[in-house]
Amino acid sequence: MMDIFFNDDYAKEFISNSEIGSLQENVDHLHADLEKRTGRGSDCLGWLHLPSRTPVSLFDSIRATHNEIIGQCDAFVCIGIGGSYLGARAAISFLSSVAKKEDTPEIYFAGHTMCSDYHAELLRALEGREVCINLISKSGATLESAIAFRLLRNFMEKKYGKEGASRRIIVTTESKKSMINDLAKEEGYRSFHLPKDVGGRFSVFTSAGLLPIAIAGIDIRDFMDGALLAEKELTKSSDLSANTAYLYAANRHLLFQKGKTIELMAAFHSSFEYVLEWWKQLVGESEGKEGKGIFPSSAHYTADLHSLGQRVQEGTRNLFETFLLVEKSSQVVKIERDNCDRDGLGYLEGKSLDFINEKAYKGSATAHLEGGVPNLAITLKERSAHNLGQLFYFFERAVAMTGYLSGVNPFDQPGVEFYKRNMFRLLNKPSQ
Ligand code: PA5
Repeated sequence: MMDIFFNDDYAKEFISNSEIGSLQENVDHLHADLEKRTGRGSDCLGWLHLPSRTPVSLFDSIRATHNEIIGQCDAFVCIGIGGSYLGARAAISFLSSVAKKEDTPEIYFAGHTMCSDYHAELLRALEGREVCINLISKSGATLESAIAFRLLRNFMEKKYGKEGASRRIIVTTESKKSMINDLAKEEGYRSFHLPKDVGGRFSVFTSAGLLPIAIAGIDIRDFMDGALLAEKELTKSSDLSANTAYLYAANRHLLFQKGKTIELMAAFHSSFEYVLEWWKQLVGESEGKEGKGIFPSSAHYTADLHSLGQRVQEGTRNLFETFLLVEKSSQVVKIERDNCDRDGLGYLEGKSLDFINEKAYKGSATAHLEGGVPNLAITLKERSAHNLGQLFYFFERAVAMTGYLSGVNPFDQPGVEFYKRNMFRLLNKPSQ
């Protein structure tokens, strides 16, 4: 059984059981389309069974690289943007304080921004550190990552010499198409190859995600075992009473049709910060096309209850919420006794922050429902690599199904080319 629980009780005023039931036949067909690769974007379905089909040789080469890197550096820079970096960043920030081994390098990120100050400060922070870098770019042609890679390659060559640098540079890319692959071969960089049929935002279970996650000291076997459990559970039946990812997709699809065009993913645990970013990308790029698609937005509760909470409670009624919760924090913090009780918190003495946070969640869920905002809830049993592997897979399945239900190809992103065309024209990029 999975450790992720989905609850749609607070959406039932808006969606009847028979409306959910009416989607079952379509969901069955679309599930078959995914499994038999007969639906839209079927050449990009490699992610679907990655957890069960990842060869042992990939774990072996990640372990070998990890062992070498650990002895060589105390700073590891992941260079990438969008899907090529967010999965790793989300996993590392979600897990670092609970599942990280001692003596692992500090992980830095680059290439996800063109901010000059960010890169200048990063290069300054790396002075005096022992550094290794990992470019992650499927196409090998993304401007932001290419710029950061050039900056960091030069930095490394100045610091270690050309040969020394080449032993500290790792390139993760698609082997055939990528220009960076030729450069890696010429310079003798260690390379990992990304599968052609797995898009960036679905690539957290490839070497794009697994290598940096392993370098950060997280047990990638445990992470992949969680994903495998979810893969098995969410593949075996498309029945909406058994498949929680599809039930989540069905709810989202119906809410969107009823004018709830914004999904606010609200997390009650601060460790979810980059999981929310990863999820926004997955939804935005997969579903937002052909004039359709839920707009994914995120909030950190309870902080944002003091700001966005007003808009949620009483603003335009075009949104639904999905609460993202952890049943049990890794550490227990309790309200201590204070004999004077001058702060008036005596009524909470002995209570844990988890207990209080849960009441804040329940209070918001009912208040927002009363205010006309249907809400869903996804709860993880604990903050662990195993649970996170399940969660990523759950979202991938759910978003693929929501995209199929609305009739789009969830695996392409033609829209992101438009700004690039204008930007490259303004930059006078020579045509290729
Ligand atoms: O999900 C996607 O496909 C995108 O977000 C890409 O991952 C992102 O644009 C980076 O592309 P690349 O890995 O080719 O550098």
